[in-house]
Amino acid sequence: MKEFICDNLSVNEQGHLCLAGVDTVALAEKHGTPLYLMDEGKIREKCRTYVNAMREAFGVNALPLYAGKAASFKQIYRIINEEGMGTDLVSSGELFTAASVGFPLSKAYFHSNNKTDFDIAYAIDEGVGYFVVDNVEELDAIDRIAGEKTVKQKILLRLTPGIDPHTYEAVATGKVDSKFGSAIETGQAEQIAKYATELENIELYGFHCHVGSQVFDSDVFLSASEIMLDFVALMKKKYGFVTRELDIGGGYGVRYRDTDPTINIAANIKLVAAHMQAYSAKLGIDMPAVRMEPGRSIVADSGMTLYTAGTVKRIPGYKNYVSVDGGMADNPRYALYKSPYTVCLASRMNSPAPTFNCTIAGRCCESGDLIQENVTLPADIVRGDIIAVLTTGAYNYSMSSNYNRLTKPPVVMIKDGADYVAVKRETLEDICKNDI
Ligand code: LLP
Repeated sequence: MKEFICDNLSVNEQGHLCLAGVDTVALAEKHGTPLYLMDEGKIREKCRTYVNAMREAFGVNALPLYAGKAASFKQIYRIINEEGMGTDLVSSGELFTAASVGFPLSKAYFHSNNKTDFDIAYAIDEGVGYFVVDNVEELDAIDRIAGEKTVKQKILLRLTPGIDPHTYEAVATGKVDSKFGSAIETGQAEQIAKYATELENIELYGFHCHVGSQVFDSDVFLSASEIMLDFVALMKKKYGFVTRELDIGGGYGVRYRDTDPTINIAANIKLVAAHMQAYSAKLGIDMPAVRMEPGRSIVADSGMTLYTAGTVKRIPGYKNYVSVDGGMADNPRYALYKSPYTVCLASRMNSPAPTFNCTIAGRCCESGDLIQENVTLPADIVRGDIIAVLTTGAYNYSMSSNYNRLTKPPVVMIKDGADYVAVKRETLEDICKNDI
């Protein structure tokens, strides 16, 4: 590694990789592997970046909503609540987790393209602030259930602005043919918006869009916000509807490798705000209160995963494998998206220049269970070495499974030079706890 991809990484005198100043090899010994580590200070720093930049750029009514799908467990909600963030949640499970630590659900926005009647009733009972409504069937269901509960339910409508975010297909969500939202281009957005204003138990607050994930510039936010503001202007002109909130989604990227750019989030937010303010003035409309929904950029680079190396398999003339004690069950992202990661030998960071080209393989029973291909590690890597996969704070724990009945690793947080367990390691008993 020429330079560290994040400023919370360093190497100590023993040549061990450190996260937030703490020796990761010592943490692997203490907590076992596989092990998710997260740097609480980095999460808080990222929350503050969004909270402060949005307040400064958009005004005091602006609010960043942490997208819990990136990493959802109780301690995350405590942290983001203390930092003054709202949350974007997508299931009753995420809502339950947030509610169980007293997260103020008035600042929760319930997404998903297919909320069940159970989700809707449960969320209303718990006092969810908003639903971000995807489609007409869902709108009708919310109106009906809110009516039964004599509640007037606040909502945003999810619209698709028809933008291609130049990211990988699985995370591009703002295109006209997306499974999410109602398209502006086809006129469906206008139809559903007009209809929402007519429903008795619904209070339409505004509109939402989310264009994509792992994006590195603000172009998509600039073009999406123009399309959304045009829509806001249309709704005002045609129906006299005043939009109170506009949610422009999440998506800023993080550095998985040193070839990825560094993004200045505060500067980008200022750019987007200036653009939206100028564009609103041009359209002659008031700027609605703005929401953004960062997930990855809040938690990704706070995290890393530690594994213990097992088999080192050399297939002469073909390829080399280093198998680790985790795999697609704790990180399915390479198997799903061929996602790049930086991998290093945490236990011997000062080894002479790495020359051993290998594939980091998981321990699950299928060939596609790889963590990363084309990794270069020191040639003397052996069973027992500690391997670190960097930038795993987002979409790893949250996408983990018990495939092959593997137990999920714990999440250990680092705070002020000390470590604490935020999520316990699953036990073998946990694996069977719902079996009859
Ligand atoms: N808001 C909405 C409506 C979203 O759909 C998403 C992500 C976010 C916010 C947060 O976006 P972020 O800031 O994290 O980019 N599992 C994939 C990522 C899927 C993202 C889906 N939506 C991965 O591992 O890369």
